[in-house]
Amino acid sequence: MKHFIDITDYSSSDIKAILELAIEIKATPFQDRLKNKTLGLIFEKPSTRTRVSFEVAMMQLGGQVVSLQANEIGLGKREAVKDISRVLSRYVDIVMIRTFEHAVLKEFEEYATIPVINGLSDVSHPCQAMADALTVIEQFKRWDNIHIAYVGDGNNVCISLIEICAALGWEITVSTPKGYEPTCDLPFNFVKDPHEAVKSADVIYADVWTSMGQEEETKQRLKDFAPYQINMALMHSAKPETVFMHCLPAHRDEEVTDECMESPSSIVFDQAENRLHAQKGILAYLFQD
Ligand code: CP
Ligand code: NVA
Repeated sequence: MKHFIDITDYSSSDIKAILELAIEIKATPFQDRLKNKTLGLIFEKPSTRTRVSFEVAMMQLGGQVVSLQANEIGLGKREAVKDISRVLSRYVDIVMIRTFEHAVLKEFEEYATIPVINGLSDVSHPCQAMADALTVIEQFKRWDNIHIAYVGDGNNVCISLIEICAALGWEITVSTPKGYEPTCDLPFNFVKDPHEAVKSADVIYADVWTSMGQEEETKQRLKDFAPYQINMALMHSAKPETVFMHCLPAHRDEEVTDECMESPSSIVFDQAENRLHAQKGILAYLFQD
């Protein structure tokens, strides 16, 4: 049985196989390969893309979904995580969890007898990284020779992006203010000046400066990240064909200007759509023998 907790749990060839599966299913979106399968979705944090793309992915592949807010089931409060894991394993065929602590996911995984998918934790967001890679491959029509510049907070999205770049042999340059560097053992370029960082990049990638659960730090973060805003001046420091990506939701005129979001360089909605197709690849892969 396979889980999907972190990109680093998989080899490069596995990651490529999941992406190839996603591309294949994208071409034939309605199938019955998950017929009679039920996905349980557990959310400790809000979500639009992750929730809707998983629900629609299951429906389009012939399966169904049970969606739960963590406070309804009292994850780790009303009932121990390890008990909920074993109970849900008896009802559904696969579960996705969006949680704060990565340790909750790991404990759920340890006791589950069904595949567990990480729908975002404070440490990583692997499903997002899969959709990002799919978007880049489609945009540039190649699997190699890609350079991504991630500008902003060294957060969960940044860490999974570093991990998928390592898996695919892509170059990644990270540019963050001091104190916000990603905690990641994998190699990545670090360039403090965002204008320097984006110079030779194919993609400029941003995420919010204040992630879910960090709201109390908003004021300080707005100050610290101000020089790291993605605006047209920063886009012009890159090549003319460089595209802008963002996992969304975006805080317009904070980490990215409205002008940049709406510019022809922005491919954020293709990227959002690809959450659906990437998720299908992941789901189909986890049910493969
Ligand atoms: N990018 C992403 O995970 O979006 P949601 O928080 O809306 O699911
Ligand atoms: N870094 C953001 C990503 C949201 C999809 C957060 O964790 O809130």
